Amino acid sequence: MVNKITVVGAGNVGATAAQRIAEKELARTVVMVDVAEGIPQGKGLDQWQSAPIEGFDSRVIGTNGYDETEGSDLVVITAGIARKPGMSRDDLLNTNAGIVKSVGENIKKSSPNAIVIVVSNPLDVMCWVAKEATGFPRERVIGMAGVLDTARYRAFLATALDVSVRDIQAMVLGGHGDTMVPLISYTTVSGIPITQLMDRPTLDAIVDRTRNGGAEIVKHLKTGSAYYAPSSGAVQMVEAIVNDQKRILPCSAWLEGEYGMKGLFLGVPVKLGRKGLERVIEVTLTADERTALEKSAQAVREPMSVVKL
Ligand code: NAI
Ligand code: 2OP
Repeated sequence: MVNKITVVGAGNVGATAAQRIAEKELARTVVMVDVAEGIPQGKGLDQWQSAPIEGFDSRVIGTNGYDETEGSDLVVITAGIARKPGMSRDDLLNTNAGIVKSVGENIKKSSPNAIVIVVSNPLDVMCWVAKEATGFPRERVIGMAGVLDTARYRAFLATALDVSVRDIQAMVLGGHGDTMVPLISYTTVSGIPITQLMDRPTLDAIVDRTRNGGAEIVKHLKTGSAYYAPSSGAVQMVEAIVNDQKRILPCSAWLEGEYGMKGLFLGVPVKLGRKGLERVIEVTLTADERTALEKSAQAVREPMSVVKL
């Protein structure tokens, strides 16, 4: 347990993440910050009132400012606007860049030693905005997307094979968008290569469904985007850091030459522990996977060139 975790943005992802963090008692105090007056206060109070029933002692509070967030050990940024039907993640670009920039500047002032997990979209670009705004090293600014994309891939595979999700090991790399790269060569079911259990057309259809996993939820919900699995993804990263678990998870990391790339955030396998990002792991890719990763990097670089910081 750490002393304080702040979640910026008390919307669907942020509020669900705050509740999960409190239920797991990952911090003594969980602070939700939002610009909407009354929303973080009301949700914080409601969550705290669930504590006697759920049996947790993490105190949840909500606020519209940063005073209460001071000295946070960890900050999760979910502030921004969410995707609506027909809207691409990149449509969100400039609005969310302005929001994440101001959030980053506030974090820098109030919690200069925090580890920051970014969730706001377009994810990989918002990680860069947060890194620039805070001035924090890459170890302390990490993006959540690969955990979610991989969870979707694993859930689809488990349904198709009628096996437990627990037995499916997989990794989805690249940017959080249509160019993401599910690694078939590293997909196994209890160590058995997926290609021995599933024909290629079925596998390709699952890869395609994973790439469009976010849009599929938006199409159902109509008024917003996914938040149960995204908040689970962010909290898995929080837990890995708080409990120094040394988990190997696909996260968006600032590349400094790994995979032959630098100067951008991209989804790669990383080790997460108490210091944040403790290592970027380079795995051998097939020629097709490498080409797909480079294409995905290009899809991150393009919007980066449009953002005015
Ligand atoms: P939401 O609309 O439910 O919540 C966003 C909240 O941010 C709102 O309550 C809004 O008032 C608040 N906000 C706006 N400007 C703010 C500011 N300057 N400071 C503090 N709060 C501010 O949206 P939802 O569903 O919670 O999604 C949040 C973000 O996360 C979106 O950008 C969405 O696209 C992204 N997302 C990313 C995922 C990923 O895998 N990386 C997965 C799911 C969502
Ligand atoms: C998702 O993948 C919208 O990025 C969000 O659900």
